[in-house]
Amino acid sequence: MKIRRFGVSIEEEFLKKFDDLIKRKGYTTRSKAISDLITQFLSQRLFTKSARTTALITLVYNHHKRELVDRLISTEHSFLKLIVSSQHIHLDDENCLEVIVCRGRPHSLEELFDSLRSIKGVKSASLIPCSTG
Ligand code: NI
Repeated sequence: MKIRRFGVSIEEEFLKKFDDLIKRKGYTTRSKAISDLITQFLSQRLFTKSARTTALITLVYNHHKRELVDRLISTEHSFLKLIVSSQHIHLDDENCLEVIVCRGRPHSLEELFDSLRSIKGVKSASLIPCSTG
């Protein structure tokens, strides 16, 4: 495989954070870390091109916030055709993790994800495509 070199301009502080992170992850060169990031980025693009796909949505939230929980449930019900199953895991006294398996057009899955992620009080959210290769 032909290797190409290219220059990248980036803020010094930002680069320092990147270097610290990749060191902790065990990378010995920036090139390998950047190459892995590009691979990840390209696979996300494949995700948006496929017709129908399966993905996981994870959400972490505080279950004491009743309004948030009500909104989560009603949002999930309004996308019921996309949701295959959901699992609720109690993380500690106040935090819950919800893992939602969903299937459908990538655009629709992203719409579902954005609707859930944007609910006030959701602490973290991720959308993970389950590629079949
Ligand atoms: Ni819980």
